[in-house]
Amino acid sequence: MKTLVTESIKKAASFIKKGEVVAFPTETVYGLGANVYDIEAIKKIYTAKGRPFDNPLIVHVASKKDILVLASEIPELAKNIIRDYFPGPITVILRRNELISMLVTAGLGTIAIRMPSSKVALDFIKECGVPIAAPSANLSGSPSPTSYEHVLEDFDGKIPCVLKGPNAKHGLESTVIDCSSGIPHILRPGVITLEQLKGLNERVAYQARTGKIKSPGQKYKHYAPKAKVILLPNGSKELPASDSKKLRAYIGISLPLNLDGIASVRICDDMNDYAKNLFSYFRQCDREEMKIIYAEKVSEEGIGLAIMNRLQKAAK
Ligand code: TXA
Ligand code: MG
Repeated sequence: MKTLVTESIKKAASFIKKGEVVAFPTETVYGLGANVYDIEAIKKIYTAKGRPFDNPLIVHVASKKDILVLASEIPELAKNIIRDYFPGPITVILRRNELISMLVTAGLGTIAIRMPSSKVALDFIKECGVPIAAPSANLSGSPSPTSYEHVLEDFDGKIPCVLKGPNAKHGLESTVIDCSSGIPHILRPGVITLEQLKGLNERVAYQARTGKIKSPGQKYKHYAPKAKVILLPNGSKELPASDSKKLRAYIGISLPLNLDGIASVRICDDMNDYAKNLFSYFRQCDREEMKIIYAEKVSEEGIGLAIMNRLQKAAK
């Protein structure tokens, strides 16, 4: 299959209308989208990614009123999140409307809904005329794509169309918050922070890796480059000594003193820059065949919680 790379929203949407999948940019990461009502097209997403069928998809809308078609009820907190943060880098889990295929929601009674703020994404979804189910546009298990080139690394020749747009503004996937029952839980930390969400409702909770898994995606290994990722304490000045000839890389905000022998270095300006660069750096390290990536830990405040979540998964 030849993969068309286009900047034409009309052209890209024409593939969705004929039941195909299309990779498209958002402000978080690129998504691999299909018409939410087209079961055959949805199956193509799972097949292309090698994604297990028990890991549900996020449904992307271009207008707030489409949420009412997808969800059967919208609790108070979700209303406030939608008011304050839609469109934006956050996904809400709500009770699902019966008419949505179980394939999209992996048999759950809930549905994940997000309205991206990226103009290209919104224009594309509008042009498609239907909500777009889309996971991140990477092969299952590899780092999420933050540029159209990353999408091509994983899918060139395997999907019919990539809508080329700007690089992702944030570089980490959306915050996922379950508002479907009881105490609202953050299932995946992201750009919209725990602190911001607690500002709407102080009961919003986040517990890293404990208890029963609520978000199916949490049980899969994610975000992992081929290199071994080793986490270093925040502010480390010393990189571990290594007598091996293995190609080694470093990413962090602090500048360590002993970078001799480190083949690739990415010093980030601040936490937002770290978030934005992390996945793209993992992919770069894979291209350069790095064997070890040292990554500096950050404090779990603000977006630091999302960075640490991705780092811990990558280092598993
Ligand atoms: O930023 C993003 O969220 C990107 C862009 C493309 O929008 N999408 C994305 O999708 O990261 P994906 O499929 O890679 O991650 C979606 C996460 C998975 O961990 C999945 O298990 C979880 O959301 N999820 C989806 N539906 C769910 C549901 N009904 N209940 C609980 N978790 C759900
Ligand atoms: Mg993903």
